[in-house]
Amino acid sequence: MTHMSRWWDHAVGYEIYIRSFCDGDGDGVGDFRGLTSRLDHLAWLGIDVVWITPFYPSPMDDWGYDVADYTAVHPLFGDLDAVDSCVARAHELGMKVIIDLVPNHTSEQHEWFVRAKSGPDDPFRDHYIWAAPAPDGGPPNNWVGYFGGTTWTLDEASGQYYLHLFLPSQPDLNWRNPAVVDAFDDVLRFWLDRGVDGFRIDVAQALVKDEQLRSNPQIGPCDDSMFRWDQWNAFEHEHDILQPETVEIYRRWNRIAAEYDALLLGETYDLHRLDKLDRLVSGGDALHVGFWFGAMHMDWSATSIKSTFETPIRSISAGLGWAQNSHDEHRSVTRFGRGDLGRRRALAFCVLLMGLPGMPFLYQGEELGLESSELRPEDKLDPIGEDGDAASGRDATRTPIPWEPIDGFGFTTGTPWLPFGGRSAADTVEVQREDPTSWLHRHRRLIAVRAELEEIAHAPFEWVEPDRSVVAFRRHDVLFAANISDQPIDLDLDCTVLYRSGDAPMDSLTLDPDEGIIGRLAPSTDA
Ligand code: GLC
Repeated sequence: MTHMSRWWDHAVGYEIYIRSFCDGDGDGVGDFRGLTSRLDHLAWLGIDVVWITPFYPSPMDDWGYDVADYTAVHPLFGDLDAVDSCVARAHELGMKVIIDLVPNHTSEQHEWFVRAKSGPDDPFRDHYIWAAPAPDGGPPNNWVGYFGGTTWTLDEASGQYYLHLFLPSQPDLNWRNPAVVDAFDDVLRFWLDRGVDGFRIDVAQALVKDEQLRSNPQIGPCDDSMFRWDQWNAFEHEHDILQPETVEIYRRWNRIAAEYDALLLGETYDLHRLDKLDRLVSGGDALHVGFWFGAMHMDWSATSIKSTFETPIRSISAGLGWAQNSHDEHRSVTRFGRGDLGRRRALAFCVLLMGLPGMPFLYQGEELGLESSELRPEDKLDPIGEDGDAASGRDATRTPIPWEPIDGFGFTTGTPWLPFGGRSAADTVEVQREDPTSWLHRHRRLIAVRAELEEIAHAPFEWVEPDRSVVAFRRHDVLFAANISDQPIDLDLDCTVLYRSGDAPMDSLTLDPDEGIIGRLAPSTDA
């Protein structure tokens, strides 16, 4: 089979949560000036593509994922010139830049919604999804949102409800309205014309909703006091997300992207409806890549890791994106066991992600082995944490990056918008750069070794089973393996080690506990 090669086929991505990357003007919030000044760190690390989280005008109810203007920059982050300089600098350093596009919903402060809310006759009314109350006056259907609770808020003035899969201040756009579709064509072109290399598409599974807004089948108990994901999982999501018409939107965007050789990377957040996810990416004529989120919802066991890989690889034939961290989940070091144990495991897991078919992404600070920060309840800023507890929300993964072992950690000269939450000198980029055994150097070596293995880009994925506590697979003649047990394991394979995450000699075929390796299999080795 021949493959058209694309610039992202063998690329390693990196998520920049701009508020917390680097502050260039001392107001405590990361911005384009700060980000641009730190891009050489990413080039040095070996990153090919950076994804920058939303930087648009926004009331920040959901920290920028509530966009009030799709073609402008929030003054906190800079201005259009600052974006241009950042993109230009990244290109100089050989990196591509993709930006976050948030098409599922706007902020309630977007002028479209302000107009829409002004009354049922406004021409912008139909940019959003409105419905009459149920006969009892309650919400029009039984949909629950990603943050828990009903997806409907009553607009007292008109007596109609409007739809929001997230906060009430994030009304969902009506993707069945051609005017919305046209408006977004212009948004895409606006940024592509400025030189960005593509988009990470927020909530990519959800754009179009059922035309009749039918209730979802309920499969378990659900009430507002339950954890948000338990509420979500109490329903079969037949009518709210993953509607076939959403693919049509991406086909349209794919044609626009093709004019610019741009990447469409979807936040395809669903772990259950794989056939529908497959339609969004596998044809190559819609999204190019869709993230698989299994790695953020698994246990540290060989069985769990294998099924985290097997499930999407079996069902989704092309275009997977892989990440163990993001601005939405606890850091993997914390999830996998904390401290150096968690760090060893996260690095070993990173070795595996680097070998999977598709595009691996790191989240800022992952290369430093950062844990989730320790925050106090009063530090909570995220609208979703449990019981007002910052530690249970998304704040703990969103704290600023420690660059240098000085006051403000080289992130800011002011007061950071979120506390560092327990960072030490050893966590900083500067200290880790001095130490060739640091997490930073181990990640950098891993990325460098993978970069040389272009032959894996289109090679089939095949499991190798040297031991049931080892997760191992091959792509072409390259082996990726990690020991998931707490005992050393001898690999009975004929193989030359190219990279190892631990400290054993390079020619040893004994995998230490929580160690990952990349190796070249001898020609005779059968999987
Ligand atoms: C995505 C973002 C998340 C945001 C949500 C709503 O899941 O990653 O941070 O809250 O979309 O836009």
